[in-house]
Amino acid sequence: MASTFILAGVMGWPVAHSRSPAIHQHWIAQHQLNGTYVLLPVAPERLGDAVRGLRALGFAGCNITIPHKVAAMAHVDVIDPAAKKIGAINTIVVRPNGELFGMNTDGFGYLASLRDVQADWRADRGPVVVLGAGGAARAILVALVQAGAPEIRLVNRSLDKAQALADELGGPITAHRWEDRHEVLDGAALLVNTTSLGMGGQEPLHLDLARLPVTALVSDIIYVPLTTTLLAQAQARGNPTVNGLGMLLHQARPAFEAWFGVMPEVTAELRTRIEATL
Ligand code: ATR
Repeated sequence: MASTFILAGVMGWPVAHSRSPAIHQHWIAQHQLNGTYVLLPVAPERLGDAVRGLRALGFAGCNITIPHKVAAMAHVDVIDPAAKKIGAINTIVVRPNGELFGMNTDGFGYLASLRDVQADWRADRGPVVVLGAGGAARAILVALVQAGAPEIRLVNRSLDKAQALADELGGPITAHRWEDRHEVLDGAALLVNTTSLGMGGQEPLHLDLARLPVTALVSDIIYVPLTTTLLAQAQARGNPTVNGLGMLLHQARPAFEAWFGVMPEVTAELRTRIEATL
């Protein structure tokens, strides 16, 4: 066994429901590493103390989850440019010199989840429709723009939020009214739902897919349930689909690599193990 014990975890409030320990512990065991990944329940008023305490406690770093993803940025020393654009971090790495580095791996996780289903997926295949303009949408939009999406139609219940995001991120993003969500599917190559509609216990998403080409990839970042009404509707008319589990699993990979020095894989075994906890 290596002499250094590597310590990582996830800060959230509440955090008991997090699947991250199961994901990272699976990889620690698989690669026979000397370390662990723990739950770190941190109340909002103690976030600064907790983040600054990482170095003293000997942590390699941690994940940051709800409700700390935006606030944690104020407590790190360096922020990755993409994370700065997104306006949130989900990972902190304690660098050898003690510096706290903040990054956001959600966009990476989303794009990797598409490539699980279509290995040759490319952002420049055609227009993209994004439903929702919250935190998750920001990470996905930044990743899609960076990957070269030629046109992104951003649809949100509050049009002003979509417009502000389009103005802020610039590039190929246009804002659209919620009422127009059916029409903007015309000719799209990719559709992603980032709203909470369709999540277990929430209202369903009402969307008419008639205008969407049957070749379009349809994705939902929701993973409870794994097959949302949107995905079932898409499958019924022959569209390829991607559920939210892939994003959850893949977003963990760059963080694990940064702390443990090994880029892990998302295997069928890991998928089955995490699916069993949903
Ligand atoms: P997350 O961080 O997961 O993206 P969020 O920031 O709370 O969560 O964003 C939730 C998204 O779901 C928003 O785009 C929200 O629309 P508004 O910006 O108009 O609030 C969308 N959403 C939530 N409930 C909705 C509903 N009933 N109808 C349409 N959109 C809804």
